[in-house]
Amino acid sequence: MTLVTPSIIGRSVHELPTPIAVLDDSALEHNLTTMAGWCREHGVELQPHGKTTMAPALFDRQLAAGATGITAATPAQVRVMREHGVPDVQLANELVQPGEAAWVAGEVAAGFGFRCWVDSPDGVEIMQAAAAPTGAVVDVLLEVGSPGGRTGTRAAAARDAVRAAIGRAPNVRLTGVAGYEGSMAGDRTPPSMAAVRAYLETLRAAGEELAPDVDGEVVLSAGGSMFYDVVADVLTGGGRVILRSGCYVTHDSGMFRRNSPLDGPDAPARLRAALTVWGTVVSAPEPGRAFLDVGRRDASFDQGLPVPLAVLPRGEREPRPLDGAEITALNDQHAFVALPVDAALAVGDRVQLGISHPCTTFDKWRWIALAGPGGVVADVVETRF
Ligand SMILES: Cc1ncc(COP(=O)(O)O)c(C=O)c1O
Repeated sequence: MTLVTPSIIGRSVHELPTPIAVLDDSALEHNLTTMAGWCREHGVELQPHGKTTMAPALFDRQLAAGATGITAATPAQVRVMREHGVPDVQLANELVQPGEAAWVAGEVAAGFGFRCWVDSPDGVEIMQAAAAPTGAVVDVLLEVGSPGGRTGTRAAAARDAVRAAIGRAPNVRLTGVAGYEGSMAGDRTPPSMAAVRAYLETLRAAGEELAPDVDGEVVLSAGGSMFYDVVADVLTGGGRVILRSGCYVTHDSGMFRRNSPLDGPDAPARLRAALTVWGTVVSAPEPGRAFLDVGRRDASFDQGLPVPLAVLPRGEREPRPLDGAEITALNDQHAFVALPVDAALAVGDRVQLGISHPCTTFDKWRWIALAGPGGVVADVVETRF
């Protein structure tokens, strides 16, 4: 890193070696302020999921924009956040490794704002055993799942068992409920919306059920980047609503472009795709076909292939839109581009690819160029996966 990054600051992204991941600073800022404004307007908090970027510099910008904490998926992510000085972290999982639970409890005793999820009496017991020697009281959210779904209690009886276990655990404090509606559906078709709404209604009812066990306002935490409008609609009025959207921060040109509450013709405001990957045409061996030096190592492919956005023809200075081109396959380090009959890409042309699903593009890069006005690199954003 030290060999590469200092030399790129102040240079145009169009001069830099490809493949290269680029964050557009103005699009990023637009997304941070748009989402912060949306949350304010809807009376909900945002603790963005940090696993999307694992970029401490972006955590700072999210907190500066009004986020009340950062969410983590694993204890290792919690450690990165704590080390960076994030004051409040929500671990959106049960913390069941005794060593990690003991470390967290020690940090809580030292003033770390932390809460994690529980969905079993075993999980409560592990946390109690870890916290007792430190004297810390660790806050937990009872996770509400759904039959056949991901983690989380399936029914009221399981929730009662967890509540009873918390009642026996003086170093564990119940503060509310949590769940993830994003694992119920992957688009905004009417059946998906109905499933998400029904699940969120269960979550809200669970929060009402356990309110007598909670000191103060019940926390209700849900919300990825596809259904936060439904989350706000169903949960508002039931307690302190905390969203955990992660992908909104860069948005994308694929799954979230099609399915975000803040995109499309009817949206009240539109997020912008802030993360793209640039590649170069390394071969154009037959009509209608070109190959880029971008592959599975460089861009996500788990929720749709990258989308060609623009081309900078060899020797030119201004990119222009690349209409009609499509990525049809990715190898480790090649992208197959299919071109319309009237279009051509030449060897040496540079192509900008939009991505689908930010999380799995971020984790491919140890650093990402932050492009300011005119595509000049203003900074380098490090990731800590
Ligand atoms: C528990 C949980 N919360 C929040 C999120 C963030 O959702 P998104 O990736 O749609 O921003 C995720 C993503 O996987 C998640 O698993």
